[in-house]
Amino acid sequence: MTMKPFLPFLTVGLFLLSACGLEKPPASLKFPDDKKEAAAPEAAAPAAVAPAATEAPADPKLAAGKTVYDASCAGCHEAGMMGAPKPGDKAAWSARIPQGLEVITKKSIDGFQGKAGMMPAKGGNASLTNEQVSSAVAFMVDKSK
Ligand code: HEC
Repeated sequence: MTMKPFLPFLTVGLFLLSACGLEKPPASLKFPDDKKEAAAPEAAAPAAVAPAATEAPADPKLAAGKTVYDASCAGCHEAGMMGAPKPGDKAAWSARIPQGLEVITKKSIDGFQGKAGMMPAKGGNASLTNEQVSSAVAFMVDKSK
């Protein structure tokens, strides 16, 4: 690839973008882990200030995962229905997390019968993509570490 001839245009383009105030700071430069620590746990925030029960995570994949979770997984998992582990319940997740995210994700896509109960494939919502299930699992695990 010969990118060199385009560099002047790119530079001008970037300059114009920033001049118009359209340029956003690149998301990749943020450190999601640090942000998570900074975003205090809900318990610390006064309930009156928090608009929603749980804030959307800063990481885009986790935020997408929360949306999927709220719509398709919370029904069982938030209530701990039939032994479904609740995100944030560290005790319930401590034995699961060591399997590794990949294994946990695959089991959630395929469904499985565990000791506590039956986790249906994709939580019973076949219209979800593997990607959506994967981000929901990432959200749940991230909240439970
Ligand atoms: C019909 C109820 C139900 C729904 C809906 C549901 N789950 Fe589950 N899920 C369970 C149960 C029950 C378990 C515990 C199974 C066991 O370990 O005995 C479980 C376990 C899990 C686990 C732990 C896996 C492991 O390896 O320990 C993950 C992750 C998970 N579910 C993800 C999801 C996701 C993502 C969704 C939404 C797309 C979802 N679940 C929707 C019932 C449900």
